Amino acid sequence: MTVPPSPDIEERVTELLSELTTKEKFMLLTSHGRHRIYTTKPIGRVGIPSFKMTDGPLGAAYHSSGFSKNTRFPATISLAATWDRRLAHEVGVAMGKEVRALGRHMLLAPGINIHRTPLNGRTFEYYSEDPFLTKELAIPFVKGVQSQQVGACLKHYAANNQETDRRSNSSEVDERTLHEIYLRAFRAVVKAADPWAVMACYNMVNGVYGSENRYLLREVLMDRWGFKGFVMTDWFATRNIETTEGCVNAGLSLEMPWPSKYKLKSLQRAYSEGKFTYETLEDVVRRYTRVMFLAGAFDDRDELPQGARNTIEHQELARRSGEEGMVLLKNKGGLLPLDMKSIDSITLLGPNLKKKYGRILSGGSSAVVPPYEITPLDGMREKCKDSIAIVSDVSQADVAIVFAGLGHGRGEDSETTDRRSLSLPENQEGIINQTAAANRNTVVVLMAGSPIAMSAWIDNVPAVLMAWYPGMEGGRAIVNVLFGDVNPSGRLPLTFPKKLSDSPAHSSGIPRTFPGVDKKVYYDEGIFVGYRWFDEKGIDPLFPFGFGQSYTSFEYRDVHLNKESLKRPEDVMQVELRVANVGQHAGSEVVQMYSHDVESLVPRPPKELIGFEKVQLGPGEEKNVVVNVNPHDLAFYDISQHDWLIEPGAFEILVGRSSQEINTRMEFTYG
Ligand code: BGC
Repeated sequence: MTVPPSPDIEERVTELLSELTTKEKFMLLTSHGRHRIYTTKPIGRVGIPSFKMTDGPLGAAYHSSGFSKNTRFPATISLAATWDRRLAHEVGVAMGKEVRALGRHMLLAPGINIHRTPLNGRTFEYYSEDPFLTKELAIPFVKGVQSQQVGACLKHYAANNQETDRRSNSSEVDERTLHEIYLRAFRAVVKAADPWAVMACYNMVNGVYGSENRYLLREVLMDRWGFKGFVMTDWFATRNIETTEGCVNAGLSLEMPWPSKYKLKSLQRAYSEGKFTYETLEDVVRRYTRVMFLAGAFDDRDELPQGARNTIEHQELARRSGEEGMVLLKNKGGLLPLDMKSIDSITLLGPNLKKKYGRILSGGSSAVVPPYEITPLDGMREKCKDSIAIVSDVSQADVAIVFAGLGHGRGEDSETTDRRSLSLPENQEGIINQTAAANRNTVVVLMAGSPIAMSAWIDNVPAVLMAWYPGMEGGRAIVNVLFGDVNPSGRLPLTFPKKLSDSPAHSSGIPRTFPGVDKKVYYDEGIFVGYRWFDEKGIDPLFPFGFGQSYTSFEYRDVHLNKESLKRPEDVMQVELRVANVGQHAGSEVVQMYSHDVESLVPRPPKELIGFEKVQLGPGEEKNVVVNVNPHDLAFYDISQHDWLIEPGAFEILVGRSSQEINTRMEFTYG
């Protein structure tokens, strides 16, 4: 449960503000401390403490938590691949506890930007190419974090979809696309989970930087959506911004990590020249100090939740969520799960076999350094012990496993750079093909935070497991899935294209759409992002959005709608079905539901995700599943009204196992 904004807190804020001088109010707007770039400076006279933050989103990051080692959770994309709201909440709670135990007030997470290009260096830190999936998992995550009296911070608002020139480029995006794709999850999380902060993006959106973007901050976030928290800059994001008043008037409360536009003198001058009003100043200070109260910054630490770090529970949760996020992409002839009893020898290869990810700043600001990290080799050794020999001769082994993928180096999955190509780096394709030529039981385990092109090798190997970055217990998580202790139930939260030019930002083949020309990146594909694009253009992806195999099989029975029409936005309709596990293993299925607007005033995607449920079933078991259809999810953003519109008329509901494996289509009407 989120800590309620009790009247007491509002009164305490009012009281505090009445005691502050105008100069002190200015001082609150930035950290004023060069050496502590994640904490703000206290104001002793009125007892204002330091506000302390730490980077996320994989846990409390080393560089920003006083160089402390903390539980390293799987990457956000892996959490998204679980399609498991409850797990997202649990991870949020655990991260909140770690931050609380550090005595900090805010986790700089979650990152909820939409995957526009598979080359974005920060794809691993974000959830999905789809706003619905993003918000469905980010809402419980934020609620989980904030249940520990720790603030969550949604970032990077908005359209920060690439790292190339991120501090100087402008995302040129039309109004409908901006709202329907890039702002949609922000809006939903703000409304449903009341996050205490939003971090503005580095880039410009339609020519205006995030931290001074009055339209995005004041008008949309605060006035339209009713955001009650405060806005901070991304670190050093104000460098290219020209005026102080532009930021204040936009509603920016906190400039991090030290003053540039919010230097005391600049604030005083702009104020004395009447460039912003006293009310505006009060508002930005109020928003921020209110969150300080909510986070207990003024309270005795003994009276706050104590939190917990590096507990066995958190480490097990890291392992469990890593396991649940893994996506079985290929399993020809049922090579997986590996059978302990029938395998005598195994060969382990590939650059990711011994790789550790939790190093300082590795991958950028989300680098959490854990107290220990289980590599795939550690996990395999532990599992195989005396029963399976780990041998080096590929051709003699019963099974060969290649641990391939990316890391957090430049040009891979890393902040500040984008990936250079969609293919595996170095000679990894060669290693896979040579191994497959020598051993027909070759399994490829991919550790990466973004899609990989596989045409050069996938037909040569029988099994591929997408493990993402599975956290500090990753080696164990992978082994548990390979040997069938855990049945993989992850589903892709983004499309894997066959080749880069198939994906929307790259189809033009010219820099205009990526990485931009003259510091402008044109979102010419509009709302057709991710599977919306592949569906619309009829392009066959390598693996579609929502895809993932299992060691068992499922059947959908008696799929039907509980009514034929919806009259009002408040009405709810339900898709009801029975899901049966008709295989030999226990496992989880993700029932997915998409909508299609049959006739529309504006071009709409052939399908859009509007519901899903993850259901766990023992062998032979069957369960009833109910998925709600919420009319608001059928809406599009109408630019003539600058608002959402649910168009009356016929819609279709598509129920299936992935965006491309639809079992049932049913029609209903709205309005
Ligand atoms: C990143 C943010 C991060 C901040 C503070 C920036 O470079 O874009 O995600 O929270 O640094 O470390």
